[in-house]
Amino acid sequence: KKVVLAYSGGLDTSIILKWLQTEYGCEVVTFTADLGQGEELEPARKKAETLGIKPENIHIEDLREEFVRDFVFPMFRANAQYEGLYLLGTSIARPLISKRLVEIAEACGADAVSHGATGKGNDQVRFELAAYALNPEITVIAPWREWDLGSRTKLIEFAEKHQIPISTDKRGEAPFSVDANLLHTSSEGKVLENPAEDAPEYVYQRTVHPEDAPDTPEFIEIGFEKGDAVSINGEALSPATILTQLNDYGRKHGIGRLDLVEGRYVGMKSRGIYETPGGTILLEAHRAIESITMDSGAMHLKDELMPKYAELIYNGYWYSPEREMLQAAIDASQTHVTGTVRLKLYKGLARTVGRWSDHSLYSEEHVTFEEDMGAYDQTDAAGFIQLNALRLKLIAMRNKRVAK
Ligand code: ARG
Ligand code: SIN
Repeated sequence: KKVVLAYSGGLDTSIILKWLQTEYGCEVVTFTADLGQGEELEPARKKAETLGIKPENIHIEDLREEFVRDFVFPMFRANAQYEGLYLLGTSIARPLISKRLVEIAEACGADAVSHGATGKGNDQVRFELAAYALNPEITVIAPWREWDLGSRTKLIEFAEKHQIPISTDKRGEAPFSVDANLLHTSSEGKVLENPAEDAPEYVYQRTVHPEDAPDTPEFIEIGFEKGDAVSINGEALSPATILTQLNDYGRKHGIGRLDLVEGRYVGMKSRGIYETPGGTILLEAHRAIESITMDSGAMHLKDELMPKYAELIYNGYWYSPEREMLQAAIDASQTHVTGTVRLKLYKGLARTVGRWSDHSLYSEEHVTFEEDMGAYDQTDAAGFIQLNALRLKLIAMRNKRVAK
């Protein structure tokens, strides 16, 4: 038996690696992706080799451009936010990891894939729904749901028995669980488990505290083409480069922190601290460029579809016909979402201060408070209001009559 494991190089997935070898008797192939989590990947290679993985069974890939171009940007065309606030930074990375796990399994003749998500969360669902959607024959091994290494003590014992290196800070209780990529860093568990208590400052890893951000604002301009960001301050950049640069601006100005209690797909609520610096700037800018280039009817329908679309991504249905249907509608809405947005970054906020586009629907001629030179006839509005008021008047008359 051969299994492809999503391997971070950390303690937990190293234990999983050994466990698959010793308890399952599997040949293990590792897959480590650079999704912009900000960690070196070569140590993961070294560690996999130390744990007995053959060099040809170690796969390390830089997926940053694919991640932003084919997953993050399509999602941002929808302005997707789960339960009103969460920008889905973990949720959107899982389908890409699963896709590569399945592709590598197929290429190297493995019959199974494995991941390090627990049996209590969303991530198991996302990894596995994606894997089955892409290969219905695949077997998924989820060690956290199967083994008897439930406690930290047992995990450490197992690691010691198999000579898996453990950093001293991992010997005690891990402080909290972190998932990071180019879009966000999320922290859950341990010191964060009581939602009544403020999160300690050390939890925040990629933004300064807004109160410590520079006292002078900074202005940037983001260029869009068909709904996707394509430039910053007039310089054309690749998707991953744009998000990386926006993350730098966001970090500096303390933008994109979120302390959220959310409903997991498996039913329980959980509390998380999210940092989405670049994504928070991008969402503000995308809404701003849509505001002048998108028809209101299309926009309002899109805004109705958004919570459903966000929920599909959160729940792990990226590779589903309903997500693809919604994506097609959302993408079609972006045909004219081209232009530039000017933003002011200051103390935790990114605010739009200007927007312009050759595709604009904004007509100063129509909206002006000054004399409009015949573009709009105000007397048209009287009949418009009378007909729209008709049913409201009939209701009011009826209510008056039956109240007597
Ligand atoms: N609650 C977030 C989600 O479901 C993040 C989950 C992973 N984060 C973590 N710190 N383990 O998308
Ligand atoms: C996990 O349970 O592995 C992380 C949290 C989640 O998936 O929701």
